[in-house]
Amino acid sequence: MPERIFIGVAWPYANGPLHLGHIAGCYLPADIFARYHRLKGSEVLMVSGSDQHGTPITIRAEQDGVSPQEVVDKYHASFLDSWERLGISWDLYTSTGTENHREVVHRIFTKLLRQGDIYKRSGAMPYCTKDRRFLSDRYILGTCPFCGSEKARGDQCEKCGRTLNPQDLMDWKCRLCGNAPELRESEQFTLRLGAYQAKLEEWIGARSEHWRPNVRNFTRQWLADGLRDRDITRNISWGVPIPLRGYDDRRIYVWFEAVSGYLSAAVEWAERRGEPDKWRDFWQNPACRAYYFIGKDNIPFHTIIWPAMLMAYGDYDSGHSRYNLPYDVPANEFLSLEGRKLSTSENWAVWVPDFLDRYDPDALRYLLAAGMPETSDADFTWKEFVRRNNDELVATYGNLVHRVLSFTHRNFDGRVPAPGPLDADDSELLRRAQERTLAEVGAGLEACSFRAALGAAMGLAQAANRYLDLKAPWKTLKEDRQRTATTLWIAISVLSALKTALAPFLPFSSQKLHTLLGFSGPMQQHGWKVLPVPAGQPFPPPAPLFVKLEDKVAGEEMALLEAGRVKV
Ligand code: MF3
Ligand code: ZN
Repeated sequence: MPERIFIGVAWPYANGPLHLGHIAGCYLPADIFARYHRLKGSEVLMVSGSDQHGTPITIRAEQDGVSPQEVVDKYHASFLDSWERLGISWDLYTSTGTENHREVVHRIFTKLLRQGDIYKRSGAMPYCTKDRRFLSDRYILGTCPFCGSEKARGDQCEKCGRTLNPQDLMDWKCRLCGNAPELRESEQFTLRLGAYQAKLEEWIGARSEHWRPNVRNFTRQWLADGLRDRDITRNISWGVPIPLRGYDDRRIYVWFEAVSGYLSAAVEWAERRGEPDKWRDFWQNPACRAYYFIGKDNIPFHTIIWPAMLMAYGDYDSGHSRYNLPYDVPANEFLSLEGRKLSTSENWAVWVPDFLDRYDPDALRYLLAAGMPETSDADFTWKEFVRRNNDELVATYGNLVHRVLSFTHRNFDGRVPAPGPLDADDSELLRRAQERTLAEVGAGLEACSFRAALGAAMGLAQAANRYLDLKAPWKTLKEDRQRTATTLWIAISVLSALKTALAPFLPFSSQKLHTLLGFSGPMQQHGWKVLPVPAGQPFPPPAPLFVKLEDKVAGEEMALLEAGRVKV
């Protein structure tokens, strides 16, 4: 039986283009994981979509003087283009603006309301008397109680990254007019989260041993602080309506609505492929493992709130739910940029569309995977990008491919030579290529240790370079053609192993290398194994896999960034 893997990835707000923080935070690790599992033969469903709702969208619309719909259409299209160019291999990338999504949200809401997991309560909400409206999350600004930043928002502080409630802010003010809001009673629908305390504790106690320590600790701390019921509607006008009459001035709030997208996207995917029940394989078969790739600011919503919703919707009882709970939530830490926290409002960011106009997707994927903020925050610098590109991607991997293939092509008539008897060096490297490397990379990826997995693959490339220096085929060519042929055949076998081992990370160059080795068709069809390269197989004259960057690139990009000239 192939493994079955559901991969949910955070739904990005469609209020601006993607930046490198998004990619390093969740989209790249999810894609690497999905590609590996598909190669291995697992049944994979990887979904996400644009989050079209909430105040991040309406604020952007007001700033740009356009409608919220125009904002989301523009950035949804931009996201689709970025996924394509970056090779993020969705099974479905949809949006929260679909009818299907609204129906699924309504189904969940209605069931929870009927069984008492959602109830109405009245509470004090910030209200601006000048603008005559309730203000929710991002419509309130103030001083962050944790780091003292004066530009914190009602939902989060951009400076320190903490999740906030508007009431947490010191000296709060209305974003629109600058006056201090007052508190006014208003009635909202509330999720009875407190009732799930014991169930969540039981589930997390039993199921979180393999979680990353930061995710587990954060979640346990939330539980230890005690769960409180949470309002899941707001006085806003842009979002999924409440499925009851008389509440048209309110909408369902992001944390209830957007997370439901994981289920609605699976339903849409099944419908689109004409097998409307197929989503159940991933949601209702307990053998399927569900992974959620997210940034650390989203942890509680995926380890507590969404699981509680699934327990309620799936009639959870002593460890069993009719809807699968998360198996793992490998949240990443933050990526900073040149030592400073990324900030979209201050345009301190590297934007994906702009980056891809100048550089290759695999160069970016390599850098972000090699320095992924897996267990601690990581910093992107242009200098490091150029260094890793030139010293690692080009010098270690690209040059290895190029020197082996061009030398062989020139001296062996454009065909893979036949090996003679193998010596100890040959056998050792061959074993590493054919057995050890894929096992090590696979084990790293299964554990969501992306840096270690990439390191294992690159270790093989380094070993092959040392082997070539030792065997020096360019020297043995004249006096011992057989020996030279063996060396090159071994090296070509290593290249075949590298193209598979690196395929989850560097899909574009792996496909190129597949062709350079004389194979045709998509390389994925051969699966997670080292494809033997038969002696005598013709292969085309090689072309470089990667582009070396000039050192001055780092300085130029830095100047551009500091001048804030990269247009959003
Ligand atoms: N759009 C929200 C954010 O970017 C929520 C993302 S994750 C979701 O923070 F699961 F809630 F969609
Ligand atoms: Zn105001």
